[in-house]
Amino acid sequence: MGQYMNFWCGRTAVAVAVIIAATCCSAQAVEPTAKAVPEKELQPKIAYCKTCHGQSGQGYRGATPIPRLAGQQVEYFENQTKAFVERRRENKFMYNVAHVLSPAMLTALAKHFSTLNPKPLGGASRDHISEGKTIYDEGLPKSDVPACAACHGADAKGNGLFPRLAGQLNEYIVKNLTNWDKERGQDRKNPDNSAIMQPIAHNLTPAQIAAVAAYLNYLE
Ligand code: HEC
Ligand code: HEC
Repeated sequence: MGQYMNFWCGRTAVAVAVIIAATCCSAQAVEPTAKAVPEKELQPKIAYCKTCHGQSGQGYRGATPIPRLAGQQVEYFENQTKAFVERRRENKFMYNVAHVLSPAMLTALAKHFSTLNPKPLGGASRDHISEGKTIYDEGLPKSDVPACAACHGADAKGNGLFPRLAGQLNEYIVKNLTNWDKERGQDRKNPDNSAIMQPIAHNLTPAQIAAVAAYLNYLE
């Protein structure tokens, strides 16, 4: 339980950190540096990811929303891809895609996508964007929802294991926050960072989720 909380160390501005202070600050495991992947193997793999995630990693509105990967945090990207393989996170497309990736390939892909910076796809209804911004910046104290900005950053660019949300497809955000318990944290014996978001997702109403998702959808 304690080890997945380690990334909290050093974050002072987050009120909720108090809750997990007891588990904070044991030594962080250092991953061995992955070997470089030859370009002739990496490039076709990148092209393959982009058939679904968009030519600039900007995401794609398909039968199911396919998330933006551009500008995503490397650590978060790697952890989620592993989560699909370990079935901590349930998704039939991404299990098939991810379980064949070597650790070195995974790191190379995460680094590639983190450097991309296309304009957000946009397209969400603009009706409740200002309400969404207020939720993002200030949270909903009456509903026990902390400010999203406290963890995801004032600019929503994320940090390490906290994902970037800026420019993400609103449909994808809505789907995630609505189904949090059904898709993430699915290996009860191996709890992960998804536990941090669970109560937050749970305490938002559908209208609040739609508003904050619309705000993030346009954020560069
Ligand atoms: C067949 C389409 C498809 C392909 C090909 C594909 N993905 Fe995905 N990917 C998806 C879908 C759909 C999701 C959203 C899953 C969900 O809703 O939980 C996703 C989610 C992800 C996520 C999680 C993003 C987040 O914000 O949590 C990562 C990381 C990812 N994909 C990486 C990759 C990489 C790397 C490749 C190439 C090796 C790739 N994907 C290829 C469809 C695809
Ligand atoms: C206490 C810290 C914290 C706060 C506050 C927080 N989040 Fe998160 N959020 C996380 C973490 C950690 C993850 C990654 C979860 C994982 O690894 O499965 C996450 C993941 C997400 C994801 C999934 C992103 C993706 O690419 O799949 C969405 C969407 C999200 N948060 C939205 C929000 C919104 C909206 C708010 C404010 C209402 C918020 N979060 C507040 C910590 C936080």
